[in-house]
Amino acid sequence: MSVAKKEYKRITTKSLVDMKANGEKIAMLTAYDFSMAKIVDGAGIDVILVGDSASNVMAGHETTLPITLDQMIYHATSVVRAINRSLVVVDLPFGSYQSDPKEALRSAIRIMKESGAHAVKLEGGKEVKESIKRILHAGIPVMGHLGLTPQSIYKFGTYTVRAREEHEAEKLKSDAKMLEKMGCFAVVLEKVPAQLAKEVAESISIPVIGIGAGKDVDGQVLVIHDMLGMTHEFNPRFLRRYADLHAEMTQAFENYRDDVKNKDFPSDEEQY
Ligand code: KIV
Repeated sequence: MSVAKKEYKRITTKSLVDMKANGEKIAMLTAYDFSMAKIVDGAGIDVILVGDSASNVMAGHETTLPITLDQMIYHATSVVRAINRSLVVVDLPFGSYQSDPKEALRSAIRIMKESGAHAVKLEGGKEVKESIKRILHAGIPVMGHLGLTPQSIYKFGTYTVRAREEHEAEKLKSDAKMLEKMGCFAVVLEKVPAQLAKEVAESISIPVIGIGAGKDVDGQVLVIHDMLGMTHEFNPRFLRRYADLHAEMTQAFENYRDDVKNKDFPSDEEQY
């Protein structure tokens, strides 16, 4: 059943700002490959994030830090080939934008030119202001990401909720306002108290997309492997599982194994 208030043939950065203004929530999911992106796009998900969480769920790394710009472009290119409607946002990976604004711009240009994606996302506030400015000046839409920013996991030392302390909450609020003022089209808030996320969403005109940030924000994002129940060892409170693909896939693989071993597959009808 469709719950969209207005039909959007193609989602643009402007559509998202309009959705916020009209009180329509934004649905965003990650995807990293053609086949999955085709299903996600066909299901009417507004934004597909080619997240650097690919480092975890696709490559099996412990953190998002190892994934490279070339690898992100590979994933983004596969996703872009699949989409008809969704807006495709690609994460700038760790090390591709923090050290130098010119390098940040080069990285963003490579993503846009080589993959055909529509926007980039990067983590941080004031610390990366000059990089954001450069990228925006080149006409590339930027989505911010504040709160629990996984590329800084070794600074935080833990994946627990961020900005519970007054000083961190104040910084987050002022960073969100800065991102809005600079011209970012949206901001992700990850794992922060719901009341703080609500205040931020009410204080800026660009959409706030939450992950573990409560219901009073303008949209939600989940990592697709988590919401499909493929990563059953990852169980944060904010995660709602919409399927148990781990169980279903395991069952399918076991059935196939048994059919092969028992000489049940292929049957006479399944051969030439
Ligand atoms: O990389 C990612 O999947 C993300 C989401 C968690 C927002 O940045």
